[in-house]
Amino acid sequence: MTVRVPAKINLQLGVGPLRADGYHELVTVFHAVNICDDVIVEAATPGAGISLEMVGEASVAADATNLAWRAAQVLADASGVDPDVHLQIHKRIPVAGGMAGGSADAAAALVACDALWRLSTDRAELARLAATLGSDVPFALHGGTAIGTGRGEQLTDVLARGTLHWVLAIAEEGLSTPAVYAECDRLRADERVDDPVVSEALMQGLRSGDAQAVGRALANDLQSAALSLRPELGQVLQAGDDLGALGGIVSGSGPTLAFIVADEERALDLAVGLMSTGLVRSVKRAHGPVPGAKVVNERL
Ligand code: C5P
Repeated sequence: MTVRVPAKINLQLGVGPLRADGYHELVTVFHAVNICDDVIVEAATPGAGISLEMVGEASVAADATNLAWRAAQVLADASGVDPDVHLQIHKRIPVAGGMAGGSADAAAALVACDALWRLSTDRAELARLAATLGSDVPFALHGGTAIGTGRGEQLTDVLARGTLHWVLAIAEEGLSTPAVYAECDRLRADERVDDPVVSEALMQGLRSGDAQAVGRALANDLQSAALSLRPELGQVLQAGDDLGALGGIVSGSGPTLAFIVADEERALDLAVGLMSTGLVRSVKRAHGPVPGAKVVNERL
């Protein structure tokens, strides 16, 4: 059973005050793009338990701390089955890149194990289990373009027309999400932090499929914190702007940068342009929205 799951970028990431539970109240606009991990699950012999294997160059722990492993365990516990399963993760989503790669694998593991164990868990229950695993896991199930509220786990679909084209500048070394949120709190320590609201300009841009308007409306409250921890990202943002991107932003907690362009041809131009600055080690072209975690191949 193979499940494919997309990465996300945040077109808007409004970060509200720190809550008593340690999370921040968010208003975010998630957008799923076609950079995907595949999670393959196979039944293991009874009593074998869960095992996990990472395929590719990803430096991710292949043990019980991995969110995909925990997802299999959580689903088994909730449905009373024995979690005898081998998981294989084919990684393409940058690790610790602000694109919710770990959350994506957890969402894929939920869908894959649900299918393997023939549970037919309903979407609402899967989303509930997903939220217990992490704030971004429900969106990885959902896909498309959606507003996230609460700590990001409560989703509402956004009416979006057409396809948006992106160039992603991927840093070699990741950033820790908690560290970026902590830096955001530190930078704002003397400010009054209001509850964020959805950007009407962004909604209008998405409704009309206007990449230029979306580019102008991109906003991320974690951006200053990510730039404070990684000042060199500022130069890459500037380079993207100079090279004609319609907008550029730190993706989530970073350090991946997402640039929006008008079409595939412009994406290729920008990708080549960014590489030739020597500031960027790796770029990927992408488009969105794409669907959330889904079975792509069921072995009979
Ligand atoms: O939910 P998840 O485990 O993915 O969150 C990782 C970390 O990101 C949290 O421990 C917290 O530091 C930060 N976070 C936050 N507010 C949110 C979501 C995440 O502070 N709404």
